[in-house]
Amino acid sequence: MAINKSFVKGFKSELVVHSPGRINFIGEHTDYNNGFVMPTAIDKKIIFSLQKNDSNHLCKVYSSTYDKILTINLNRLKPSTEEWENYIVGVLSEISKISDRVKGFDCIIDSQLPIGAGISSSAALECGLAYGLNELFNLNLSKIELVELSQRAEHNYVGTKCGIMDQFASVMSEDKKVILLDCKSKHYRLIDANFEPYKVLLLNTNVSHNLASSEYNTRREECERVIEIISKTYNKVKSLRDVTKSMLDEFRDDLTDVLYQRAYYIIEENNRVLRASELLEKGDLESFGELMYQSHRGLQHKYEVSCPELDFLVDFSEDYERVIGCRMMGGGFGGCTINLVHADSVSDYILNVKKAYKKQFEIDLTSFITVPSPGTLIQS
Ligand code: GLA
Repeated sequence: MAINKSFVKGFKSELVVHSPGRINFIGEHTDYNNGFVMPTAIDKKIIFSLQKNDSNHLCKVYSSTYDKILTINLNRLKPSTEEWENYIVGVLSEISKISDRVKGFDCIIDSQLPIGAGISSSAALECGLAYGLNELFNLNLSKIELVELSQRAEHNYVGTKCGIMDQFASVMSEDKKVILLDCKSKHYRLIDANFEPYKVLLLNTNVSHNLASSEYNTRREECERVIEIISKTYNKVKSLRDVTKSMLDEFRDDLTDVLYQRAYYIIEENNRVLRASELLEKGDLESFGELMYQSHRGLQHKYEVSCPELDFLVDFSEDYERVIGCRMMGGGFGGCTINLVHADSVSDYILNVKKAYKKQFEIDLTSFITVPSPGTLIQS
């Protein structure tokens, strides 16, 4: 970790915020279609140290990951050419639309989250800052307001029209639970994350194809296009959440094959999430894992957001009896797979999959075991 000594010298932290990354067991690309997701926070996080300074409008934010200091004038917030800076300025901009209480502050950001790995370092960055400023300046914003303003920061400053899942999971998760979230009503249910004797293993492809953000917005537009067509006949249909398979089939000839497949995937994935939640509650982990595989195949063939590296890892895992579930996770085009692997076989499996991946792509695979963990919190 880099440390800018002059910045750190004299820094008297008033507040330390832990803001975690997230995993998602099932329910991918369903959030912006008003569907269901099953994420939770993980034990890797971004740590924010914050202090007020004497200024009314000058802020300094030091990122140890980039070893860079960002100086911000609260009276002149504007987008930056650096992506990480836009998350920060985006949050400040969204807060300024609802409160004038934020004044000058200094902040040190120290991240344990790999970037582009599909574990949402971006939501952790947005939500951690929003959470910290809420506390430091007594903004009195609720957790859900912090979640929503963080999402708007990403839409308006970064330009990714993301759904609500990542910010929701980063803030609202609870220890040893997964969240079954209905992204339409924002109602949610916490389910015991009882995966024993399996471990949750993340395998990072260490690739991040640059299609990710443009294709993400394209997928969103494709889904909206389907709704435009269907809602001409069914005016109550507002999102793919309201579309059934038989309804979709009525419009088979009005839709291109690509649009049909996109919508079909979303309908199936929403059903899978609901079934998966019942299976997890019943403790039927093998059937739960099978749904993870089905989710991946849908993302690969119907929604087309996977990539050769992710598909390789899923194919490889299918030959291992002790890996009961595996799928790509997050937006796609790189990042991690999430795997359920029997505790007794984790080390062996990691060794074998790393060797095979290296041979195939000449890239090192990184692995870590994670556990469902609490959402954003203030260090006491
Ligand atoms: C990204 C977005 C989320 C969600 C996932 C795909 O992580 O930020 O809102 O759409 O992709 O499920």
